[in-house]
Amino acid sequence: MQNEIVYLNGQYLPLSDAKISVMDRGFLFGDGVYEVIPAYAGKLFRLEGHLERLGNSLKSIRLQNPHTPEQWRNLLTKLLKDGVDQSVYLQITRGAAPKRDHAFPAHIVPTVFAMVSNINPHSDENTGLKAISLEDSRWKLCDTKAITLLANVLLRQEAIENGCAEAILFKEDYLTEGSASNVFAVINDILMTPPKGPAILPGITRDVILEIARNKNIPCSEQAISKTNLKAASEIWVTSSTREIIPIVELDGEIIGNGKPGSVWKTFHKLFQDYKQSLR
Ligand code: PDD
Repeated sequence: MQNEIVYLNGQYLPLSDAKISVMDRGFLFGDGVYEVIPAYAGKLFRLEGHLERLGNSLKSIRLQNPHTPEQWRNLLTKLLKDGVDQSVYLQITRGAAPKRDHAFPAHIVPTVFAMVSNINPHSDENTGLKAISLEDSRWKLCDTKAITLLANVLLRQEAIENGCAEAILFKEDYLTEGSASNVFAVINDILMTPPKGPAILPGITRDVILEIARNKNIPCSEQAISKTNLKAASEIWVTSSTREIIPIVELDGEIIGNGKPGSVWKTFHKLFQDYKQSLR
């Protein structure tokens, strides 16, 4: 990333000039929440959904939302380049307190930071990525998009060190999600994904995929998926705002389907691209 313009506490400034206090509770405790919002051709994608989830995350950590939806839209849109596909990273921490104390300090101002990056969604129809299954070592508030991501970081790193792009996580042998993605599987010709709840992040890409499936009458189901069932899937995908829909063609060294992106993935990849195009 070059010296892009970023937003910090009411100011737009070059990244290298954006500074926060070492007493910031985001730095000391990971006490904050975030969002990652794609913007296609300079237009924020599903902003309402992202802001609703941001509101829920803030409520979960008992931090007041510093802006209205309209203020957020204006604030973030100013960072975007016209006509370019990017993603906005937005973080709010509880702010800097005079001393380090776990309990909430009184009267502090939250730190609000936003920056943009380029996005590179998976569009290769002939190759997919590898994943590894790992025990989900995270906490019980996975539906809060907290910046406290050490478990996710360690899980993703373990995946990378095993030659995989993503860690697919299981709690007591049931699928939760990826280290930074939701997971879908095609099992017996039905598109399945685990139900919403505290064990997963309610992904916005996940919502879009389920919406597309329902609009097109493609059989889909939000249901618990055991590791045995996932391993028998004909297709596995991981989904997120920055990488869209990624076909997983190998899990724990075992080939999924025929080892190439499946026909259901191809259909959804096209429908997702068409949907994006329709919003431009
Ligand atoms: N992560 N689950 C987890 C744990 C995630 O971190 C993400 C996204 C998702 C997918 O959510 P969405 O479709 O709304 O992006 C699911 C972002 C991209 C990140 O941390 O960078």
